[in-house]
Amino acid sequence: MPIRCRSETRDAGDAPHLHALAGRGEDGVVTADGPAEAVTAPGPAPGWARQVAAVAVLTGAGISTDSGIPDFRGPQGLWTRNPSAEKLSTYQAYMADPELRCRSWQARLAHPAWTAEPNRAHRALARLACSAIDTQVITQNIDELHQRAGTPPERVTELHGTMFGVLCTGCGDRTAMAAALDRVRAGEQDPPCTLCGGILKSATVMFGQPLPPGVFERAAAAAARCDLLLAIGSTLTVEPAASLCSIATAAGASLVIVNRDPTPYDPAATAVIRDPIGEAVPRIAGQILPA
Ligand SMILES: NC(=O)c1ccc[n+]([C@@H]2O[C@H](COP(=O)([O-])OP(=O)(O)OC[C@H]3O[C@@H](n4cnc5c(N)ncnc54)[C@H](O)[C@@H]3O)[C@@H](O)[C@H]2O)c1
Ligand SMILES: [Zn+2]
Repeated sequence: MPIRCRSETRDAGDAPHLHALAGRGEDGVVTADGPAEAVTAPGPAPGWARQVAAVAVLTGAGISTDSGIPDFRGPQGLWTRNPSAEKLSTYQAYMADPELRCRSWQARLAHPAWTAEPNRAHRALARLACSAIDTQVITQNIDELHQRAGTPPERVTELHGTMFGVLCTGCGDRTAMAAALDRVRAGEQDPPCTLCGGILKSATVMFGQPLPPGVFERAAAAAARCDLLLAIGSTLTVEPAASLCSIATAAGASLVIVNRDPTPYDPAATAVIRDPIGEAVPRIAGQILPA
């Protein structure tokens, strides 16, 4: 089985032709689980939202910015503002450089994900995933906000792992991030594995690392059998995640991209929606879900 390594595409289109831009619905109020929240009324469903039996959703960092977790490549992204931060997510640099690991542990301590709450878009996808529609949420994110919003864990595929776990690069032992962060707070700048002394890292897929076995295959199967692939908040420049778009369209599915910035897959999309994710995703979920 080929090992699929996380990498960036080099051939991102520089002037993609934008396809049909969806219009905005009218404002309205509906009751969600828990407290009532204002969402955009669905409005008439576009053709691609009608009679959807199976939907695959690919989410990127952009779905969590409303929860206070910055993305990497958006206008306020961590790497846009500080290009050298990319090294913190590169496996080879992490393994080779103890000083970089100390900085990584400090960055983990201060990460906004520990206090972040799911937002309207995560909750709208959870409603979809709890409906009769066959829903698979495939995420590039490592923040577990889809599960916390109520998407059943078996309907979430984490392509890049989770930041709530820690893995030993020596013996493979898996432990909780909270325990490792306690050790950092207590003064261990680069805490080693308590079993073998090996280098610890978060249970995420860094650039230069293969995806865990079977994870991409599961995501690809969902993309190949869906009627609609929604790609939300991703620049679609990280592979192999972005290639799920081609897998879905090759199998005859509609591809709908919700992202503020252009992506290399825009020309292949049935619709490209530039509205803020917090508005667009609840509206789309309302259009897909039968009344
Ligand atoms: N929350 C997280 O777990 C998190 C956060 C940052 C990075 N990451 C990791 O880094 C990689 C980043 O790649 P990526 O392609 O997912 O994200 P990215 O940072 O490359 O791009 C995010 C995209 O979302 C858009 N966006 C942000 N907020 C938006 C909003 N409210 N409405 C509309 N568009 C919005 C940005 O303009 C940008 O084009 C991922 O693979 C992931 O592993 C994860
Ligand atoms: Zn170990």
